[in-house]
Amino acid sequence: METGLKEKLLDEFERVFGSREGAAVYFAPGRVNLIGDHTDYNGGHAFPCALTLGTYGVARKREDRKLRFYSTNFESSGVIMSDLENMKAEEKADWTNYPKGVIWAFDERGMKLTCGMDLLLYGTIPNGSGLSSSASVEVLTGFILCDLFNFEVSNQDLALIGQYSENHFNGVNCGIMDQFAIAMGKKDHAIFLDTSDLSYQYVPIHLKGEKIVIACSNKKRGLADSKYNERRAESEKAKEELQQVIGINELGDLTEELFDRYKVAIKDEVRLRRARHAVTENQRTIRAMQVLQEGDITAFGKLMNESHRSLAEDYEVTGVEMDTLAEAAWGQEGVLGSRITGGGFGGCTVSIVKEDKVENFIHNVGKIYKEKIGYAADFYVVDIGGGPEKL
Ligand code: GLA
Repeated sequence: METGLKEKLLDEFERVFGSREGAAVYFAPGRVNLIGDHTDYNGGHAFPCALTLGTYGVARKREDRKLRFYSTNFESSGVIMSDLENMKAEEKADWTNYPKGVIWAFDERGMKLTCGMDLLLYGTIPNGSGLSSSASVEVLTGFILCDLFNFEVSNQDLALIGQYSENHFNGVNCGIMDQFAIAMGKKDHAIFLDTSDLSYQYVPIHLKGEKIVIACSNKKRGLADSKYNERRAESEKAKEELQQVIGINELGDLTEELFDRYKVAIKDEVRLRRARHAVTENQRTIRAMQVLQEGDITAFGKLMNESHRSLAEDYEVTGVEMDTLAEAAWGQEGVLGSRITGGGFGGCTVSIVKEDKVENFIHNVGKIYKEKIGYAADFYVVDIGGGPEKL
């Protein structure tokens, strides 16, 4: 954490809410997924890690039942007010629908707030970058509620509550990966997560001479949520078709061989490609974890590239912006692998780049992107951080 940041945040809280009495400071990370996308709602594996980028929150209880929210990232929205009697998602509530969703989800589980709260947020995750700023806010809110109101909730349950609020309050049918990676984050480790039963393994990421570089496309994610829900529905339908001929619970239960044997059951070419991605991406993620444990980062990088191709051709969630970033990266010296990460339809790529080539990488990929797309991409050299904490 930047020195003096805690003090600055408390100053800002005082400026916005009149005093800092009773306020405490918290943090929850963002996440990047190294490989395994659109597998988490198909009972497959994902391989994300928490970042040192994330969301800071300053919070305190109030005497009344009001909720006051302020984000330094959306200063022009000012203080957004609500109260515990009015827990519905509303357009005018804007970003506060995320913390409100979590308060609502706690209430649904019988954890009722006895009074309102003031909450100030400051995010270091670029907005709409696909590094899960919303899941970061959800897990952060849950963590704060536990601390302020003495609820006992495990970190894994914080992830599930965050996902529940996003599904049922905010209407995005997301899987568990983002909230899980954030709530369960561990410094310098990625999480090999089996979403069929939430079993997981921490895998140390000791890059020697390489860096993780995020390239943020700055493409507006416009219809991303509805297209995400559409992909999820397509996968679901393909699974039901396969279930007519083979006893599986999820697409993630299939090996590539079994998929090839039974795929004729899928009666639509688009759905066939969606299911093929879900199956091959899961198997790639399992292989990626194995090669990484053997210390073969070159093989890991190749699997990342294959993952991008599958997300582009079979799952069709990349688009020209993300393809330009990945393809430009593949052409650079010192790049072990590069792929879109997260839900897609904009967002960012993650690349593993030799440390002494990072500067060139940023310069060259940035130039190619700007020339082709017309506006600039932003680059972040990131570190793997831990889960939520009180500062
Ligand atoms: C979004 C969702 C996740 C996951 C990814 C794609 O980030 O929130 O649950 O499905 O997309 O892997």
